[in-house]
Amino acid sequence: MEKQEIDRLLEADLAHQLHPQFHVRDHQDPVLFVRGQGALLWDAQGREYIDGLSSLWNVAVGHGRRELAEVAAKQMEELAFSNSYTGYANVPSINLAERLISLVYPNLRAVFFCNSGSEAVEGAIKMARFYWHLQGKPAKTTIIARREAYHGGTLGATAATGLPAFHKGFGPLAEGFARAETCYPYRCGHCTGVDDCDLACADDIEQVIVDAGPETVAAVIAEPVHGAGGVIPPTPGYWPRLREICDRHDVLLIADEVITGFGRTGRWFALEHWGVQPDIMSVAKAITSAYIPLAAFIISERIHEAILAAPADAKFMHGYTNAGHPTACAVALRNLQIIEEEGLVANAEAMGDRLQRGLRSLLELSPVGEVRGLGLLAAVELTADREARTPFDAAENVGGRVLREMRQRGVISRAKGDSILLAPPLVTTPEQIDRIVEVVGDAIRAVRGV
Ligand SMILES: Cc1ncc(COP(=O)(O)O)c(C=O)c1O
Repeated sequence: MEKQEIDRLLEADLAHQLHPQFHVRDHQDPVLFVRGQGALLWDAQGREYIDGLSSLWNVAVGHGRRELAEVAAKQMEELAFSNSYTGYANVPSINLAERLISLVYPNLRAVFFCNSGSEAVEGAIKMARFYWHLQGKPAKTTIIARREAYHGGTLGATAATGLPAFHKGFGPLAEGFARAETCYPYRCGHCTGVDDCDLACADDIEQVIVDAGPETVAAVIAEPVHGAGGVIPPTPGYWPRLREICDRHDVLLIADEVITGFGRTGRWFALEHWGVQPDIMSVAKAITSAYIPLAAFIISERIHEAILAAPADAKFMHGYTNAGHPTACAVALRNLQIIEEEGLVANAEAMGDRLQRGLRSLLELSPVGEVRGLGLLAAVELTADREARTPFDAAENVGGRVLREMRQRGVISRAKGDSILLAPPLVTTPEQIDRIVEVVGDAIRAVRGV
């Protein structure tokens, strides 16, 4: 693209568009993407980048998939949209609901479609409360969410989010949420690492339930592996303990699999790693690999039975215009077929192993405090003092500077503070994985002079 045209576009962008998580200081030199193929992206000046975070953890099958464009075009010509409100249905949404139920945890039975991960989380929360309302326990409304959690940008999802930066300036936050500890062995008040985790972090959730009174608690919501909060996998016993705690107190367990769903961790869904089933689960992102917006929350047989048996005056009065959008559902079906036919869940596991191994080799660099991850989800946490695990002074913006150096070397991604986050597409090649590792190492060396 001509420089003049690029300059005109970027000027218009700054003049008329507000971007997510916006501050004008951070948008002085944006990358203007124009094309993608596989794990690669190109900007308007023709520079090539490896998409180190699958854009926003979502482009699972990689960029430039003609088959997804074709299925969307065909569905748009046939029936681009129809209303899915009660009393109406369309073919792709029925087929997708059936397909999802065949893929997810065996106890799950019915799907509610929406457009974004935030909407999926909102719906899951409303469904948990509504379930207890139907059970004659309307006082069970509190939602317990964890420190470091990211659940989305709508008001309920913001209240569930456990990262203070997302609360600033938006108060009062939605009522009916309580905060608990999370499983973050590297920075935990109870243990010093994965090997000596005694699950006191899970027991903290039980304590919050007991303190609130189980008769007032609707659900615990948690990401199987924290994503935007720093890619933090739990210790092996954590999720089974969480399930036990929820069962003991008759509290629903909501798994927010917006990032972890559809192969990212080397399993179709992340709780498969620990043999746990949630009562409700939220999914989005890789459901269509972001070729078109779509999300869903999925409920257990027990909750579905309650909805089916509800009296006439107990409608689940929740919905969105685009729920069950036929074009989005048709794209999702084809996207899931690609993941299955190309063995991308197994590839995520294999490439994930390669990525984790490569990143662990960076532990020889003194600022690298911890390397962690699961499947094709990884983080490199940088520290000022490795022994004491002291974080860098935030004013130094070490994470941001490392990202910038990575970008100059052709890998883009995001950071949480000084944790560099990585989640490349499930189609990333071994050579591209190795290049990501090399670039992360070089960027750390460039910033810290090590
Ligand atoms: C775990 C989790 N839940 C919910 C959301 C919100 O999804 P969306 O941005 O599509 O609204 C995100 C977004 O990154 C997420 O990571």
